[in-house]
Amino acid sequence: MESPVVLGIESSCDETGAGLVRDGHLLGHAVASSMDEHARFGGVVPEIAARAHVHSFTPVVREALDRAGLRMGDIGAVAVTTGPGLSGALQVGLAGAKTLAFSLGVPLYGVHHLAGHVAADTLEHGPLPDPCMVLIVSGGHTSLLLVRDLARDPILHLGDTIDDAAGECFDKVARVFGLPYPGGPAIDRTARQGDPDAVAFPRPLTGPRDPRYDFSFSGLKTAAARWAEQHRLRDEELPLADGAASLQEAVADVLTRKAVAACREHGVGTLVVVGGVAANSRVRALAEERCRAAGIALRVPPLKLCTDNGAMIAAVGDLLVRAGAEPTPLDVSIDPSAPL
Ligand code: KG4
Ligand code: ZN
Repeated sequence: MESPVVLGIESSCDETGAGLVRDGHLLGHAVASSMDEHARFGGVVPEIAARAHVHSFTPVVREALDRAGLRMGDIGAVAVTTGPGLSGALQVGLAGAKTLAFSLGVPLYGVHHLAGHVAADTLEHGPLPDPCMVLIVSGGHTSLLLVRDLARDPILHLGDTIDDAAGECFDKVARVFGLPYPGGPAIDRTARQGDPDAVAFPRPLTGPRDPRYDFSFSGLKTAAARWAEQHRLRDEELPLADGAASLQEAVADVLTRKAVAACREHGVGTLVVVGGVAANSRVRALAEERCRAAGIALRVPPLKLCTDNGAMIAAVGDLLVRAGAEPTPLDVSIDPSAPL
């Protein structure tokens, strides 16, 4: 029997996403972002994000259905991000998803946002091998996860950032450098003209006595801010491209070094890099280089599936449906600080 079409809803931060997945295949998806509304504040404003979700929810679901050539009545299950994320933002998506599931008479599945990022890759490259190592790098998370079966086994959390996330580091340094928000893509663009060895930024938590799989980016952020400040004090023009390239190199070096070491230690042959920072050109290139040298297969989803979207949530819902998982009760609440 054909499995049902799963509608996935994502609203944990500033993107309202809806995606339709059946049997591991992406049928269509749409994303609306309130990023521009946050730009002048230099970061996501929770209240603005929540209002934008209210505004975008229905048009985004409709657009995803149109792109898939489907109608509301074709939806057989609804999956929705319940956490982690911003409370007000999550509430809007969950309320909308519950309403759809209830009125269509279809099951609801609550999904962990990070499981969504992991599953994004299955839409492009097929089922994940068991086991695989997943590096999630976004504006809110930097985690190394050992994943077996997304629908059945709990994910083993090997390490996390102890302070800022990698994307947050890019965003905050970009602000100090006077680059536009969001900072990650701006640093990436600016770095193209720079020398990655120009500034010797630190490689935090890479010493022999440091926790092997935890990350720290706040010291790096401070080092970049100090570097910019020193130039300003001397009234020198900031060599922005060199600063951006060197910062990007430090982040990419730490991320890929730890991810490859984790694969080696756990005998895992596949590394999946997901989350907004997986879009970074240097993170991608260095991951490719180091995985090739270590005989590890690297999987990175396409850019449009790397940043927050509803398709990745639908992908988890589809796995849960096909694994025969119990639906989530309709009185489920959001879990803004959900542990993995
Ligand atoms: O996964 P995502 O869309 O949202 C969450 O944080 O969950 O990730 C957004 C983050 C932002 O910090 C953004 O600056 C970063 O991903 N990002 C990048 C690039 N594109 C997006 N960072 C570095 N280089 C990029 N090309
Ligand atoms: Zn995300």
